Amino acid sequence: MASTPAEVRREEDREVSDESDRMVRLGSYGGMVRPLLFLKDDDIHYDHEEDEDGNEDSAAAAAAVEETMLLWGIQQPTLSKPNAFVSQSSLRLPLDSCGHSLSILQSPSSLSTPGVTGAVMWDSGVVLGKFLEHAVDSSMLNLQGKKIVELGSGCGLVGCIAALLGGHVILTDLPDRLRLLKKNIEVNLGHGNIRGSATVTELTWGDDPDLQLIEPLPDFGSDVVYSEGAVADLLATLKQLCGYETTIFLAGELRNDAILEYFLEAAMKDFLVGRVDQTQWHPDYCSRRVVLGDMAFCLGKKKRN
Ligand SMILES: C[S@@+](CC[C@H](N)C(=O)[O-])C[C@H]1O[C@@H](n2cnc3c(N)ncnc32)[C@H](O)[C@@H]1O
Repeated sequence: MASTPAEVRREEDREVSDESDRMVRLGSYGGMVRPLLFLKDDDIHYDHEEDEDGNEDSAAAAAAVEETMLLWGIQQPTLSKPNAFVSQSSLRLPLDSCGHSLSILQSPSSLSTPGVTGAVMWDSGVVLGKFLEHAVDSSMLNLQGKKIVELGSGCGLVGCIAALLGGHVILTDLPDRLRLLKKNIEVNLGHGNIRGSATVTELTWGDDPDLQLIEPLPDFGSDVVYSEGAVADLLATLKQLCGYETTIFLAGELRNDAILEYFLEAAMKDFLVGRVDQTQWHPDYCSRRVVLGDMAFCLGKKKRN
């Protein structure tokens, strides 16, 4: 029998309320995020049942990631314009943030060198930086005085914004990418009129991090997922840099679904991962091609390592 309009509305209301029931807070971010795996009441201490080979864990993680990717696919990300907030052929990207007019220098000619991606800005970096600004403005996040490590900083926009928001930021990248990064810090934060601070140091994922990065462990980290080959090293570094109090913000861009899927499945072995809905992003900096995540250590799991 066909449902009446009132019944349809009630069913829709129930679905919306089921969805919001599933939202949780992860780490130090005050907004609600959609966990990739359903969490029990004691979510952050959650340590789900596992057989000896971890098969149940992996199957649940694979199913959760598949669902997430499906939901992302429904939004038809490919219909959104790529490079909506950046122009990778320009020598600089102007952007207003935190009451400052930033000018991020780029080196478009380096983009033709295989493997060099950090010489220009990417939408995911702009979306992540503006999300941090919006989250602080709406009191969902407090970066004042916090230690922040940014991985794969590239041109350094996210780290600059985090420093303007009061964080003590260490921006990191491969050794041969640091010149442009340092220049951008100097150009954009050199006037000294900032609430926090910014320094630059090299960090190759998978290598032992410098002591200044891990002592003390950071309060926040951010990074950009983009290459399948780098996933294992990136996760090894995230585990080394992460303490129980560390919150990681993660931005990923539609380049290859498989990479994001692979990263999320691997990350869920050690971290609780949540998706930050676009309703919580900076309203002027949303793109269906970008996903934002919030990650925190799954305590039960870290103890087992
Ligand atoms: C796609 S770019 C993103 C840059 C910047 N975060 C943004 O959003 O514009 C990826 C960054 O990760 C860095 N990267 C790649 N592989 C790395 C590795 N193995 N260790 C450290 N950094 C790496 C690159 O040099 C580059 O700056």
